[in-house]
Amino acid sequence: MNPMIMDHPLIQHKISLLRDKNTGSKEFRELISEIAMLMCYEATRDLPLKEVEIETPVAMAKTKVISGRKMAFVPILRAGLGMVEGMLALVPAAKVGHIGLYRDPETFEPHEYYCKLPMDIVSREVYVLDPMLATGGSAVDAIQMLKDKGVKHIKFLCVIAAPEGLKALTEAHPDVQVYCANLDEKLNEHKYIVPGLGDAGDRIFGTK
Ligand code: PRP
Ligand code: URA
Repeated sequence: MNPMIMDHPLIQHKISLLRDKNTGSKEFRELISEIAMLMCYEATRDLPLKEVEIETPVAMAKTKVISGRKMAFVPILRAGLGMVEGMLALVPAAKVGHIGLYRDPETFEPHEYYCKLPMDIVSREVYVLDPMLATGGSAVDAIQMLKDKGVKHIKFLCVIAAPEGLKALTEAHPDVQVYCANLDEKLNEHKYIVPGLGDAGDRIFGTK
């Protein structure tokens, strides 16, 4: 599936503020949440609808509501947590699972340290959340963990992607629709995205 780049002006404007090294944690968190909300709006565009009949104060009306599979949001810890609030603002009934992965600073390989998912995750449409897609290792592994548990319908949402990560992810999981708000230039020798925004987890939680 071709990745979808979400170049809406509001998203692009907010990403510029995110990238600024002088943006502090409070504003950074707010921006990530707002961008996630805007991305959620776009990524749910294909949700199926069904017709229902309701009575307005004026007349009976045939109108539409969302039908089909329920949703689950699965942030990759830690930085993915920053996207949850914005997603839940639009889909408050979604359940939330957590996958903990950290990237080894020497090998850049992801390591799993936590996994807690809703009991009925297999029957849900799962949105995996992580602001950063660098080498793609974390996203590829998180999605594989979900598939190993039987999850079939997966979307991946990231704010900034490197071409290397996008290639790795779409090759490993061609069935997963990927949404990213911006495609950056490249990775540097430390596998950080260039120009990127630095370490998203540290900036969200003020740990550096
Ligand atoms: C960051 C980011 C992604 C991962 C991306 O997490 O949030 O999960 O790196 O890199 P990759 O595409 O090369 O795997 P990190 O491992 O730094 O953990 P953190 O969110 O706890 O800071
Ligand atoms: N993880 C981040 O938080 N930023 C990067 O640029 C790469 C991985």
